[in-house]
Amino acid sequence: MAKYLITGGAGFIGSHFCRMALKQNWCESLVNIDALTYAGNLHNLKEIQADPRYRFVHLDLNSGDVDSIVKETEPDVIIHFAAESHVDRSIEDPGLFLKTNIIGTFNLLNAAKNLQTSKKGLRFVMVSTDEVYGSLEATGQFFEETPFAPRSPYSVSKASADMLATAYHHTFNLQTMVVRCSNNYGPNQFPEKLIPQSIIFALQDRSIPVYGKGTNVRDWIYVEDFVAGIQTVIARGKSGEAYNFGGRSECSNIEVVEMILASLKKPSSLIQFVKDRKGHDFRYSMNFDKAERELNWRPTVKFETGLKETIKWYQSNLVWWEAITSGEYLKFYERNYGEKLVLKGRS
Ligand code: NAD
Ligand code: DAU
Repeated sequence: MAKYLITGGAGFIGSHFCRMALKQNWCESLVNIDALTYAGNLHNLKEIQADPRYRFVHLDLNSGDVDSIVKETEPDVIIHFAAESHVDRSIEDPGLFLKTNIIGTFNLLNAAKNLQTSKKGLRFVMVSTDEVYGSLEATGQFFEETPFAPRSPYSVSKASADMLATAYHHTFNLQTMVVRCSNNYGPNQFPEKLIPQSIIFALQDRSIPVYGKGTNVRDWIYVEDFVAGIQTVIARGKSGEAYNFGGRSECSNIEVVEMILASLKKPSSLIQFVKDRKGHDFRYSMNFDKAERELNWRPTVKFETGLKETIKWYQSNLVWWEAITSGEYLKFYERNYGEKLVLKGRS
């Protein structure tokens, strides 16, 4: 069995990956490197913190000694989740995104390249995003061959990291594989993202900000489906290749928010249309025929079912999100939308 090294395992998708990898015995050991930024939360990992196969390393990929941790750990597989992940924050502070998402990835790739000299067969999974392909109008899909056209500082930083990983395959013979996925949702997602934020604000009877007219479309995938997809790439993916993942669940933002309100029996009047995100990508849509064909992967959770599960989780994990909403996250929203929207609700 393989030794896994994960980065960003205290975040949303990474923590699901860590829990599932140990529960399903995908690996013999798992080291999780995370800087614990505002988005990192060790509570996401409390189920596995005492597991003898698990080890946490508090390290910033931008500045810490990544090389010596990678050397010491000697992983068979590196799965790189760590990133600044929120598009709105990349509009506020692009520099941090370039640093973490590009230089952080560069540091990790170099450490992998160095380890490779003694550890043959090392595999590196770069967790990228559908946003590297840019924005679609009402029709069309993204394929793995679709030319990159990223339009936000976040997506440019991810496109750079994505290409850098493949460059290390071509140039240094590192066995890299890239996974590009659409919008994940599920338990433990940081409240700044559309779905958890709308659930929490609805539970609090606060106004729910919807950008523009709410017509932008995202393709939603339940986080456990994506995590299972990553494991199929580790098991069966080909070095130097990229794989698309999606949920086959395209919805406009207003549809998503309406579904949440209906499920919680809250009025649509909680919706507040606010100024649009700058450069807001209109629509994403993933073609994942390649993952179906070559990895025998497909999404299994219907959006309606996954959304209900997610709502239930936020309803029964108040302590988790209240600890977050009382802190840094609200300050971000105050800066963007003013105190009234977030703190004083509709009154
Ligand atoms: P997240 O923001 O919830 O978690 C990111 C994690 O990375 C946090 O634990 C944070 O502490 C850590 N981190 C940030 N900077 C770091 C640094 N310099 N050094 C070490 N650790 C650092 O993110 P997420 O939503 O779980 O996304 C994980 C990955 O998946 C990201 O690479 C993101 O681009 C990609 N992705 C996310 C989605 C989505 O819908 N959430 C979809 C496609 C791809
Ligand atoms: O597509 C994959 C990407 O999905 C990932 O690469 C990113 O890491 C992840 O953050 C996510 O990006 P989005 O920008 O699509 O997610 P977000 O939840 O921020 O927004 C989803 C949609 O909802 C988008 O069209 C913007 C809109 N929105 C978002 C917020 C936070 C609103 O209308 N109101 C809001 O308050």
